Amino acid sequence: MSMQDKIKELMDMREKARLGGGEKRIEAQHHKGKFTARERIDLLLDEGSFEEFDMFVSHRTHDFGLDKLSYLSDGVVTGYGTIDGKLVYVFSQDFTVFGGSLSEMYAQKICKVMDKAMKVGAPLIGINDSGGARIQEGVKSLGGYADIFQRNIMASGVIPQISAIFGPCAGGAVYSPALTDFTIMTKGTSYMFVTGPKVVKTVTGEVVTDDELGGPMVHASKSGVTHFVAEDEQEGIGLIRNLLTYLPQNNLEEPPLSPCDDPIDRLEDALNDIIPANPNKPYDVKDVIQAIADYGDFLEVQRHYAPNIIIGFAKFNGISVGIVANQPAYLAGVLDINASRKAARFVRFCDAFNIPVVTLVDVPGFLPGTAQEYGGIIIHGAKLLFAYGEATVPKVTIILRKAYGGAYDVMSSKHLRGDINYAWPGAEIAVMGPKGAIEVLHARELNAIEDLEERAKFTAEKEDDYKKKFANPYVAAKYGYIDDVIEPRNTRFRIIRALQMLSTKKDSNPPKKHSNIPL
Ligand code: HXC
Repeated sequence: MSMQDKIKELMDMREKARLGGGEKRIEAQHHKGKFTARERIDLLLDEGSFEEFDMFVSHRTHDFGLDKLSYLSDGVVTGYGTIDGKLVYVFSQDFTVFGGSLSEMYAQKICKVMDKAMKVGAPLIGINDSGGARIQEGVKSLGGYADIFQRNIMASGVIPQISAIFGPCAGGAVYSPALTDFTIMTKGTSYMFVTGPKVVKTVTGEVVTDDELGGPMVHASKSGVTHFVAEDEQEGIGLIRNLLTYLPQNNLEEPPLSPCDDPIDRLEDALNDIIPANPNKPYDVKDVIQAIADYGDFLEVQRHYAPNIIIGFAKFNGISVGIVANQPAYLAGVLDINASRKAARFVRFCDAFNIPVVTLVDVPGFLPGTAQEYGGIIIHGAKLLFAYGEATVPKVTIILRKAYGGAYDVMSSKHLRGDINYAWPGAEIAVMGPKGAIEVLHARELNAIEDLEERAKFTAEKEDDYKKKFANPYVAAKYGYIDDVIEPRNTRFRIIRALQMLSTKKDSNPPKKHSNIPL
């Protein structure tokens, strides 16, 4: 065989591998509104940057007639490339080959890129579209999943791990995305569940569709499993690229510093009037975020889940930060179980990857009631407290309005190693709101007043006294719990100054095997 023939043979094999399960199945994939594994990689990575590994891998199974049926690449495309010039590792499951189901060799291919990503210190992006464990391979497939899980666990907090779900993701296969940092699902084509509708019907009698059981909106709003929902794959891939602009390559690097020509001293007069005169009236904290962040850009994470707390990424003079903000426009911004869990995981992600946390506080307290207590608000609220207290990244906190009770402590207070804590002039920082406080402090006197009008007058007077005394930022400022009371329109400038000052901050926790966060 001449060299030319050998090269032709190579080209032919490559061509064959690129066809995956064949033209017909590629057509079927397109018909469902889905891209193929390789098309997805092309869309994700910088043009021409993809270097593929293991194109010639095939399975080693002989049962069920598989000795006569195999495909080059074995159902998953793996390798590395760049996004905006920065290295990333990728695997993309190929539904056209055995329904993207995972075999022993397929798992080994994924493990290889995961190991490389860890050694080199670059993000890992997994695109999931699979019928789960390859049934013909039995326990070898189950073992393959666990090999991936183990690597997901070891990589957690070392390199960013992002999972796109662009098709089915069922059974134990869901646990790899669940172990990663961010999950993106597409509308109409993706679902995730531990057991599918058929098993659910057999076991519980419940009748549900794939979408009702594990579609993107279910996981975005009810379970909190997914962080982003995209209209289609192209939007999903755009989200991954955008998300990476906020992240460092690994836990030993600083997050990227972007060029910024949005003036740092941009005054936002509207912020001086954004807080309604009536303390019980809501406003949208996202308006505050957009007013202060570079160019008003904010990449919101878990938008549909526990909207009483807002989390996401923004930049301040090009510095990447994670924002946590109570949302007065939803349930008055109260802290409940889901909000606490949502924000706690986000704070821990930021801390693991050296991303400063900016916290905007307007919180009336924790949500009272049996549903919350029975659900374990004590343990879940403790997660957020723990996450803030453990975090060593720069922490800048602005109290916009209310900071009542335990929620004052939890929301990145000075006492939890908050670095810079500012308050707007209308801030109310106290053990509880005026109404509740007066009812407790003057219960006996109030009971003694029979005339309702007189009682209301007495209450109003006492509430007024209380507000003057406690419901303002100056008591906290007097004790140094607040570093300064700032003019709202100047917030962007003050945050940027604080972040710049804190850029060389070093803090640490005592040596230990690991902490025991209340799970
Ligand atoms: C082998 C599989 C497969 C699997 C699909 N295929 N799933 N082959 N193992 N798990 C093959 C089909 O035989 C078919 O082959 C091709 O992939 C496409 O599948 P279709 O059924 O035609 O596609 P569609 O109608 O779109 O349905 C997709 C699907 C369905 C919903 C994913 O295929 C399905 O229910 N598959 C089984 C899912 C499952 O129960 N997996 C095990 C879960 S438990 P041809 O040759 O016809 O194209 C699990 C445990 C993991 O994963 C534990 C980890 C700890």
